[in-house]
Amino acid sequence: MTDLIFKELDRDVIIETFNCGDQAINNFLNNLALLNQEQKLSKTYTFCLKNSNTIIAFLTLSASQLNTGDARIFGIDKVPIVLLGRLGVDNNYKNKKLGVALINIALEKSLEASKIIACRLLLVETTLDIKSYYLEKVNMGFEWFRDRKNTSILFIDLKKYEENLQ
Ligand SMILES: CC(C)(COP(=O)(O)OP(=O)(O)OC[C@H]1O[C@@H](n2cnc3c(N)ncnc32)[C@H](O)[C@@H]1OP(=O)(O)O)[C@@H](O)C(=O)NCCC(=O)NCCS
Repeated sequence: MTDLIFKELDRDVIIETFNCGDQAINNFLNNLALLNQEQKLSKTYTFCLKNSNTIIAFLTLSASQLNTGDARIFGIDKVPIVLLGRLGVDNNYKNKKLGVALINIALEKSLEASKIIACRLLLVETTLDIKSYYLEKVNMGFEWFRDRKNTSILFIDLKKYEENLQ
């Protein structure tokens, strides 16, 4: 594939042409991603075309927590997590494993972060039609947590993942 660079979102990245087919995700990238980055509200990681700095795939990570109720399966009230908030791959670059590559990086970064500030899960809340992508295509050990309305919550237990590496 064309030469790509992996980088954090910055003001030099060209985002205007990006279209992943999901308007909410496109809008986030165009209107909020950089602002959130600068405000330390979410961190956006990208793949960009090396020659033009045009973004073709991105995801966001932020610190969050599972609250009372949702956290009960862990036997405590609140569980610190890394939230995989947004993921998008431009229509012209789909099915080249860029989504999988970004999620792999998210997992690495979550494991790294958990060594400094406790976080137990890498968690994603996604629409029902993307659920099978995480469970069947990503193949990194995502577990189903629950469906509510038209969304599904899935997670990787970082403790379990780390133990399996040993
Ligand atoms: C979902 C998305 C991130 C996948 O990215 P991608 O880089 O094209 O996917 P990958 O190359 O990593 O994986 C491709 C595989 O996933 C499958 N796949 C793609 N979208 C899928 C979906 N919605 N449900 C199930 N499987 C899906 C492909 O058929 C392909 O399967 P194969 O390997 O058997 O051929 C991308 O399609 C996208 O940006 N969608 C719109 C935004 C969105 O829905 N984001 C997720 C919200 S959390």
